[in-house]
Order: sequence, then C-alpha cells, then structure tokens
Amino acid sequence: MPPAPKKPDFNPFVPEFQENPYPIYQQLRQGDPVHRVRGFRFNQWFLTRYEDVQAVLNDGRFRVDDLPERLGEKAAHLKQGDFEPLRGTIQHWLFFLEPPDHTRLRSLVQKTFSAMRVELLRPLIQSLVDEQLDRVQSTGCIDIMADLAAPLPALVSLALLGMPAADRQQLTEWAYVLFHVFDQPLSLQDYQRINQVAIAFRDYLERRIAALRQQPEDHLMSRLIEACDRDQKISEAELLGFISMLFSVGQETTENLIGNGMFALLSHPQQLQQLIRDLEREPGLIESAIEELLRYDSPVQIISRTALAAVELGGQTIQAGDKVNLLLGAANRDPAKFQQPDALDWRRKETSRLPFGSGIHYCLGAELARLQGQIAIQTLVQRLPDLILDAKNVQRRKNIVLRGFKVLPVTFTVS
Ligand code: HEM
Repeated sequence: MPPAPKKPDFNPFVPEFQENPYPIYQQLRQGDPVHRVRGFRFNQWFLTRYEDVQAVLNDGRFRVDDLPERLGEKAAHLKQGDFEPLRGTIQHWLFFLEPPDHTRLRSLVQKTFSAMRVELLRPLIQSLVDEQLDRVQSTGCIDIMADLAAPLPALVSLALLGMPAADRQQLTEWAYVLFHVFDQPLSLQDYQRINQVAIAFRDYLERRIAALRQQPEDHLMSRLIEACDRDQKISEAELLGFISMLFSVGQETTENLIGNGMFALLSHPQQLQQLIRDLEREPGLIESAIEELLRYDSPVQIISRTALAAVELGGQTIQAGDKVNLLLGAANRDPAKFQQPDALDWRRKETSRLPFGSGIHYCLGAELARLQGQIAIQTLVQRLPDLILDAKNVQRRKNIVLRGFKVLPVTFTVS
C-alpha cells in the first residue's frame, strides 16, 4: 500500500504568511481542511472551508473563547503581576460572553448599530473623509493609513460615543494595545503592557462617566449611563468594560478594511480605473465593491471557538475542550463557494458574510464599518483618480489575527 500523503504543516508565524497567507491557506484547504495540531492539554484545530467555518459559528456545541478565564489562571500560575484590571475589562466584551449576559448587553446597543441608524451618520462620515483629504490634497503624496484610514474610525467612534475629539490620539493608542489581547500567543511583557493600558483606559472612562453624570449629553455613552443608573440593565463594571470595547474594536478592523481594500485596488490598476469609470454612472456599485474587498483580503483573519462536546467534522473528531481556529481569510477564498476565488471581481454573484463572522456573535459594527469603507474608498478614488502605490515603502503590521498595513504610501498628481 502506498504511504499516505504527508499532511501540510501550518505555521502562521513564518514571514511568507504575513506577506501573503493565501497560497498557504490553499495548500491546507486542499491537503488537510480540518487540520489538527496536538497539544498538551487540548488540541488546536484549523478550519479552512467556508461550509465548516459557517457550521461551527452556528453550532451550539461550540462556545466563544474563554480568554478572560485563562487570563485569571495565567496570573495565578505566574504569581506575577495582577492582570485583574485587564481581565475585569475584557470579561464584559461581547466576544467572550454567552447568553443571557450576551443578549442583555448586546440588546442595549443593537439599534444604534442597525443599518437604518448607521445611515444617519452618512453626512458626518462624508464630512470627516472630506476634511482629511482637504488637508493633503495639495501635497502629491499621502500615507493612506495615517492620513485617512486611521483617523476616520477614531473620529466616528468619538462622535458616536460622545468623547472629546482632543483625546483622539491617546484613545486610539490605547485601542491598538487593548485589541491586541486577541493576538495570541502573548508574552508576559505584552500582558503587562495591555494591563497598564486597561488601567489607564478605565481611569479615563471613570472620569468621563462622572462628568456625564453631572451633565448628560445626547450620545451613546450618556444613554448607556442611563441604562445603568435608571434602568439597571448594565452594572458599573460592565459599563466600563463595554465602552472600552465599543471604542477599541472598530479601530484597527475598519482601518484594515480601508488599507487592504486600497492595496487590492492599487495592485490591480486596470480594475481600479474601471471602478472609477463605473462609479460615475453607477455610484451604488461601491457597496458590492466593498463586499468583494472584504472577501478578497479580510481585515480579521482568524477567530476561535472552544468545543463543549465531541463533534465529528470532516471525518475527524474534535474533542470537548479543543480549541477551533476558524481561518476566515481561507474560507473567503474557498473555490467550493466562490468561482475563481483569487480574482478580484465586484460583479460576482456570491458575496461572503464571513468577514464579519456569523451566528449570535456576528459583528455588531458591520454596518458602520461598511459605510465608512464605502465613503472612504469612493471619495479617495474619485478625488485622487491617478493614485500610484509607492510599493517600496509599504509596511505591513505583524499580526496574524488582524491583517493590515502600518504604512501605505501613494503618490498622485496635484491639480
Ligand atoms: C471592517 C471592519 C470590521 C471587521 C472585519 C469586523 C469583524 C468582526 C468579526 C469577524 C467578528 C466576530 C467575532 C467572533 O465571532 O468571534 C466581530 C465581532 C464584533 N465586532 Fe466587528 N468588525 C469590524 C468592525 C467593527 C466595528 C466598527 C465595531 C464597532 C462597534 C465592531 C464591533 C464588534 C463587536 C462588539 C463584536 C462582538 C459581537 C458579539 O460578540 O456579539 N466591529 N467583528
């Protein structure tokens, strides 16, 4: 009998993966779509097929990551540093909660993030994008990340929540650090740094909430304070954790949608020019363009779940306690779901919902992110139609969960 073909290895920490994970995903999907890495206490699984990822996200036999719990264990085990502020912050993030707490807290903000309410933010988002571009239009070169993609989500979150624009820089820096709690594995120093930020963010929010209790404003933060004080639907500790989540999680994700989307367009100059022409006649096309850009190079590449019971999948048994990593970027290029999955095509019939997850943890901010992406990219390519990528000076962020750029320089003609 011929020996069984060797299963592919999967190592997302090699530099080629950071640069371009898609050939590696393809190898894994073809050779071992339900890939196991044996562990000491539990196995780690890596899923790459669209159907499998979708199925796990909608299967009650899997729960969300227990990161806050593991953080508590880690701190006790290390007997070093007390990570309580960090654990106390993230344990109220929707990502780590299950019903009924998940349902109770999510329902407090569900309407605010609905498509209808988000649409009301269109004039604000358009004016923020225009202001950012007015500042740089006469320079002939910009960094898409620093000049547009990074400031936009921060300014939108500040306006939505009711935080002073003057605090933007500080809050954005905290958001980057705090969100990196998802970027496993982390060293002790990383945890200590994130913990320090959790303390600073909590102190800031305590002061801001005290001020808003004296003088309420017509913003989301004041409404959440009311839900705490008057309706008792959210506790004080939950309020602090929840607001830090609302500000932090939309930052780098939305930034990466704009950055990755623009990189994909700039790497396909003919299609970019076609899009600019088509948008003149059919402005609504930007919606499908953004869906395709989200599929083509997803800002969030990996999310995870823990099995609560033994589950058969693809001829293998995932044991209770095993960790299942769902490779969204791989699922979004699955040829069983998308024809010519490696081609960029905004007229394709099949769109993917997976860039924003699926099931009860489907992204709360999906509509807000979509609208920011649509307005930012449409305005940028229409106002500066001859953008050229300065490829030598592009810098990627080193992160396997969030895929995106640190620096994305472009040049253009000044009219
Ligand atoms: C392009 C930008 C974005 C992408 C690609 C993205 C992606 C995702 C994904 C994949 C999940 C599912 C996580 C899981 O199931 O484990 C998620 C959840 C979430 N996202 Fe987003 N996101 C984006 C923007 C935003 C924005 C702007 C907000 C603003 C509030 C936001 C808030 C959340 C929250 C609160 C959750 C947790 C929902 C829950 O557990 O019920 N996201 N996001």
